[in-house]
Amino acid sequence: MQEKQLQTLLDSLTWTEKVGQLIQLSGEFFNTEGMAVGPQQKLGISDEILANVGSVLNVTGAEKTKEIQERFLSQSTHKIPLLFMADIIYGYRTIFPIPLGLGATWNPELIESAYQVLGKEARSGGAHVTFAPMVDLVRDARWGRCLESTGEDPLLNSHFARSMVNGIQHQFDSMGIASCIKHFAAYGAAEAGREYNTVDMSERRLREDYLPSYQAGVDAGAKMVMTSFNTYDGMPVTGNEFLLKNVLRDEWGFDGVIISDYAAVKELIDHGVAKDNFEATTLAMQATNDIDMKSPCYATALLPLIKDGKIDEELVNQAVYRVLKLKNDLGLFEDATRGASAAKETELLLHDSHRQLAKQVSSEAMVLLENKNQLLPLTPNQDKVLLVGPYGDNQELIGLWAVHGKTQDTVSILSGLKNYLDDEHLSFEKGSDMLDSYDFLGEFGAPKEMIDSLKMTPEAQAEALEKAVTLGEKADVIIYALGEHTMQSGEAGSRTDLRLPDVQRRFLKKMIALGKKNILIAISGRPLILTEEQRQMDAIIAAWFPGTEGGSALADIIFGKVNPSGRLSMSFPYTVGQLPIYYNGFKTGRPATTSNHSGRFVSKYLDAPNEPLYPFGYGLSYHQSQLSELTLSETEMTDSLTISLEVSNLSQVAGTDTIQLYIQDVVGSVVRPVKELKQFKKITLAGHETKTISFTLTRDELRFYTKSMAFAAEPGEFLIFVENGQQQVTAKFDLI
Ligand code: NOJ
Repeated sequence: MQEKQLQTLLDSLTWTEKVGQLIQLSGEFFNTEGMAVGPQQKLGISDEILANVGSVLNVTGAEKTKEIQERFLSQSTHKIPLLFMADIIYGYRTIFPIPLGLGATWNPELIESAYQVLGKEARSGGAHVTFAPMVDLVRDARWGRCLESTGEDPLLNSHFARSMVNGIQHQFDSMGIASCIKHFAAYGAAEAGREYNTVDMSERRLREDYLPSYQAGVDAGAKMVMTSFNTYDGMPVTGNEFLLKNVLRDEWGFDGVIISDYAAVKELIDHGVAKDNFEATTLAMQATNDIDMKSPCYATALLPLIKDGKIDEELVNQAVYRVLKLKNDLGLFEDATRGASAAKETELLLHDSHRQLAKQVSSEAMVLLENKNQLLPLTPNQDKVLLVGPYGDNQELIGLWAVHGKTQDTVSILSGLKNYLDDEHLSFEKGSDMLDSYDFLGEFGAPKEMIDSLKMTPEAQAEALEKAVTLGEKADVIIYALGEHTMQSGEAGSRTDLRLPDVQRRFLKKMIALGKKNILIAISGRPLILTEEQRQMDAIIAAWFPGTEGGSALADIIFGKVNPSGRLSMSFPYTVGQLPIYYNGFKTGRPATTSNHSGRFVSKYLDAPNEPLYPFGYGLSYHQSQLSELTLSETEMTDSLTISLEVSNLSQVAGTDTIQLYIQDVVGSVVRPVKELKQFKKITLAGHETKTISFTLTRDELRFYTKSMAFAAEPGEFLIFVENGQQQVTAKFDLI
């Protein structure tokens, strides 16, 4: 449809029809024969509004979406198709590792391919928009939604934001779907890591650390943005004109659709900034929030507000136009299903090539945290290997937010190991329950009988332990597949004890006493506290929730078919008391190691190190690389400068290194971070190969928000740090 026709369509709509476009309801409204009944009363939504609703939340599947669309259109006056939006966060049916694992690949190009697959599969299943990527910067592992983020660094997150949006929207007309970046803004900074909690920070920090990834997503052309639940500077984001209107629309030029998060318009009342649906609607509309997701506010209040002349009609028209434009961009007026079909689903979902890609991504995502005496890789059918733990023979490896994935498609760790070990060399015993108590699942709606059935009885527990010990005595190597329960991370998964669950740690203690070689596979949706395990284990692999091909990818790493290359994109704390912890904090007046003050009176803990257990950028491989001294094209920089070095593989085995370039601005008009990532390169070296690599650093990359809030580079001294995850080399230069 031409833009002119779109305008004509808009002009032909009644106010009720217009308001309908701004409302999103979930699938339950569309399940019955008649249109949209069900929980209608609960939300107080009128029949007229329901018959004109603009979009549907989390209904997928070609058949289902087609049926709803066709029924809807057959009853609609203007034949404006519904938009189907869904949470397809790290895979539709082929599930990739959780985004925290994707961050650890440091490979945005690869992740772009993964998100192309996501888009392609989702489109075959009738989705028009995905609520992804989530690009919130995270620094506090207590927050369960670290799972959904690529980590703690603004630059790395921006690369991933761009590549994910590009992947999802790739060949938009024939293959892709629309991307909705979220949760704008700064949701990752929820105080104390508690879900839905307040965010309060300086505008400088907001702009420097938190906003870049959203802006990268917008610049990449994301068609939608979702508001976050949190408050920023005293105003919940859904009603926050500064963030939505001034920054997102006016400064960044975003003219796509803004959608509130689930019920967030209504929550303006709970936040205490609106007294009723009318005020909540007014705040959200004035902030230019277009669609109200699953709250009764727009549906009950917008029409009366318009009729009483209490809201600028132009605001409403603009919002509706944006929604219609998105529908038009998607080609829905020409083909309301965008070619979704059951046949396409059969052809595409879990396609072999998708599984292959998932396996590659999964193996690049895993991070080898420990490998004492080079225990790994193991040799196939050499040692007697015992696999234990609740994640050993378990397909629950896709994590909480893979809502359209199926665990039965997943390769378990046990089946992965069977690719390398025959029955004589591999045994399995669960050995331990996952949790001491599953009661918390009740909060997610799990019925009591189901909860009770999950828990191992004390007898079963004792028997499993005894079997594990007996088998352990005969084994050379014990692999522990341990970790968080799926429901312990993701949305509303905030926790304060981030160690392995107690029951698993008790089990470990018993098994360690056998004195065998011990390998921990840590399954988690966040950085866990592995301080005890660091001492106990010979090798540790952070495997995240590794996705559909998790078990096979892991086995390839354990047996050296793949040399691990993952590097952390979020720090693993030493203790939960350090949180929030991140590598790029500001310099303090009393740095722990270099201060003039001695002893106690420096910035440190009395009972824990300042450093995390495993920092951002860290990770081991089976090869050992060495960085040479740095060569700078000049020591005084005007516009740019080139930094070169040689990277040598000291080992026979080929390997991939992520060479990271950081800077420190030594003196600024405001305090600067101790280290800031500026560039990185992932390079592969054959055995004993040396490669020369170089980075060209530009003046623009040295900009920050100065004392006067100008975004500018300030002349003066800069330090350079180049790292490979284990070694660091440094140099300095002056910006003139
Ligand atoms: C709430 C979550 O915060 C958001 O990420 C998600 O997209 C919506 N619900 C819709 O399911």
